[in-house]
Amino acid sequence: MAIEIIGTGKAIPQKRVTNDDLATRIDTSDEWIRSHTGIASRYIADENTACSDLAAEAAKNALAMVAGYTGQDSAERDRAAAQTALSIDLIVIATVTADYFGTPSTACVVQHKIGAVNAAAMDISAACTGFVYGLETAAGLLSVSSKRKRALVLGSEILTKMADWNDRGTCVLFGDGAGAVVLEKTDNSKSGLLQTLLFADGSGYESLIERRGGTRNPFKAGETLEKSIVIEMNGQEVYNFAVKAVTDTINALIKEGGINIDEIARIVPHQANARIVQAAAKRLRIPLEKFYLNIEEYANTSSASIPIALDEMNRKGLLKKGDLILTVGFGGGLTYGGNIIIW
Ligand code: COA
Repeated sequence: MAIEIIGTGKAIPQKRVTNDDLATRIDTSDEWIRSHTGIASRYIADENTACSDLAAEAAKNALAMVAGYTGQDSAERDRAAAQTALSIDLIVIATVTADYFGTPSTACVVQHKIGAVNAAAMDISAACTGFVYGLETAAGLLSVSSKRKRALVLGSEILTKMADWNDRGTCVLFGDGAGAVVLEKTDNSKSGLLQTLLFADGSGYESLIERRGGTRNPFKAGETLEKSIVIEMNGQEVYNFAVKAVTDTINALIKEGGINIDEIARIVPHQANARIVQAAAKRLRIPLEKFYLNIEEYANTSSASIPIALDEMNRKGLLKKGDLILTVGFGGGLTYGGNIIIW
């Protein structure tokens, strides 16, 4: 038995905002952002777009691919996606920017939007490692039941609505987007999810945190907010953690898999900061070209960054049948981990 990826999709908002655009509103510069992060632009969702809207679009693109449609006509795409949607048994969405606080899950909203009426649906909270966690969760749930054959796994984020636009150290890092894959349980053992490692270090839970709104710090009636609910980050702490997380995860994955790093065709890291990837590549003595990087265009889209990259690579023909692909994620929690996939 194998759990294969049989379709990929993504959704990116229309509005592209460059570093120079940001520099007209906040005290920053293209030079600073590029040199410290590798980011040149990001896409920002409009006021009316929520997490499930991007997720449903990404899902439809992945579902249509399974039905053999990869064109641009949205009516054709929707028809193809609707057929495949009925075959989905499970939807798992990784997100830290859900449509609603607590309940309902964004996955339930997406189930309704795409017509996947036969699917169970739930969200996963593992921040930027969410997609890595989501793949393993869905693969596990497919494996344990003969009734479940297909799952839809997504990362979807509207981070720009949760960014503190008065904190230039964090707001320039984030962008919006969604990525999706369709998983299928097959008898073909030559491809599919080979191995996953998941880690967490809760001692760092305050390094990346949304302090307000939860049961630790709920709003009280009549309270006036000084600022909206925002993501707070200790950049230096997260940076140091991230370089070690990427290095340790890659080392552990290849060791446990009995694989030589030369056998890995591409590494798809979470796109948080190009400098994190460069530092990890140097420590690991892995050529930087092995890492797929698109952070320059999209900035950090948290749980969506790995599936967005996978879809981009897939549609560009960069993923060949039989290639070993290694994903590595890290983020709030603190969480980290990775997957090895035989494409
Ligand atoms: N534009 C211009 N200057 C900025 C700036 C911005 N957007 N953000 C910060 N600065 C300034 C600071 O005010 C500081 O100025 P000072 O020296 O006069 O006080 C200076 O740049 C250095 O700030 P510092 O925070 O030390 O920069 P850094 O080299 O640590 O880089 C990050 C900051 C956020 C890019 C870096 O810490 C990082 O990438 N951390 C990991 C973040 C991450 O990946 N988070 C998501 C994980 S999933």
